[in-house]
Amino acid sequence: MNSLIQRAYNFNAGPSALPLEVLEKAKQELIDFRGTGMSIMELSHRSAAYEEVHNNAIALLKELLSIPEDYEVLFLQGGGSLQFSMLPMNFLKPGEKAGYIMTGSWSEKAFSEAKLFGDPYHVFSTKENQYRRIPRLEELQYNSSDAYIHLTSNNTIYGTQWRDFPDTGDVPLIADMSSDILSKPFDVSKFGLIYAGAQKNLGPSGVTVAIIRKDLIEKANPNIPTMLKYSTHSKNNSLYNTPPTFGIYMLGEVLSWIKELGGINAITERNEDKAKLIYDAIDQSNDFYVGHAEPESRSLMNITFRVTDEDLEKKFLSEAKSEGFVGVNGHRSVGGCRASTYNSVPYETCKAFSEFMVQFQNNNQ
Ligand SMILES: Cc1ncc(COP(=O)(O)O)c(C=O)c1O
Repeated sequence: MNSLIQRAYNFNAGPSALPLEVLEKAKQELIDFRGTGMSIMELSHRSAAYEEVHNNAIALLKELLSIPEDYEVLFLQGGGSLQFSMLPMNFLKPGEKAGYIMTGSWSEKAFSEAKLFGDPYHVFSTKENQYRRIPRLEELQYNSSDAYIHLTSNNTIYGTQWRDFPDTGDVPLIADMSSDILSKPFDVSKFGLIYAGAQKNLGPSGVTVAIIRKDLIEKANPNIPTMLKYSTHSKNNSLYNTPPTFGIYMLGEVLSWIKELGGINAITERNEDKAKLIYDAIDQSNDFYVGHAEPESRSLMNITFRVTDEDLEKKFLSEAKSEGFVGVNGHRSVGGCRASTYNSVPYETCKAFSEFMVQFQNNNQ
């Protein structure tokens, strides 16, 4: 790889880092995509060359996540945010109830959209403790007549992540996995629908992945706009209209990169090692740094913390910036510090940051 390229220490929360190897390959293929004399962006989405890219990306995702036969992978647009609306529009009828497990701002946004269509309720909320934790499974109670149960598997802003998912029996479990999809293994068959914007763990922004159980697709409300029906995209292999072809190409390349690394288990191990570097710097700081999340709810993807002394926190963020660490400010709604350590963030980036944290503490206490 070209070691002359100066790459940023990128901790952006999304869009976020992409693997250098993938960017290099995209650069190489940009002007003449595999002998077509065109870039991938200039190819018809109906061409054989594009269809291969499209189908390959679907097949790779199925392989990496061991997605069972009775599920479909869809490529949609509109981000996680449109899924907040598309989900209840398809599956929540007026007067019907759906349970939302509230673990942060993104759960709140999803809940607000559901109110436009039916009668959602909070199964459980950890708002009272500033969303520092994920509920324990025994705290969750819902009704067997609910249209579905919704959760946010990783809370990008608060830095918490589910370890185990509830078993909701016949009630479909729906997950917003925007900020942790493919970062660790999970059992797809527990879910009716999983959705995720690609721009954190899978590729660039512009593609939204949905993994949906086939039997649900036909149960959806038929009286909604064509483009907002999961069935439209499922019947047409996500080629009903022009898909975001470049984004899907990049997503496929990121998936190939993960496969070459050794697949989901290898990426999990790498993510655990990366997060540990930074959590150790927090835990060994004698409260110079304090984590936001309770330890058993900590996220491998978004590490949220404060520098206990507020003035020093400003200095920390400003020095981090001048040392080349990008995106370390907490979300604008909560402040503090956050390092997003998604799949493509290199180990070396996390190592450099944890060393910076230790050094900063030594220089300032
Ligand atoms: C967990 C989660 N869900 C949904 C969203 C919204 O995604 P989008 O910007 O793709 O609409 C985000 C964005 O950061 C997120 O972190």
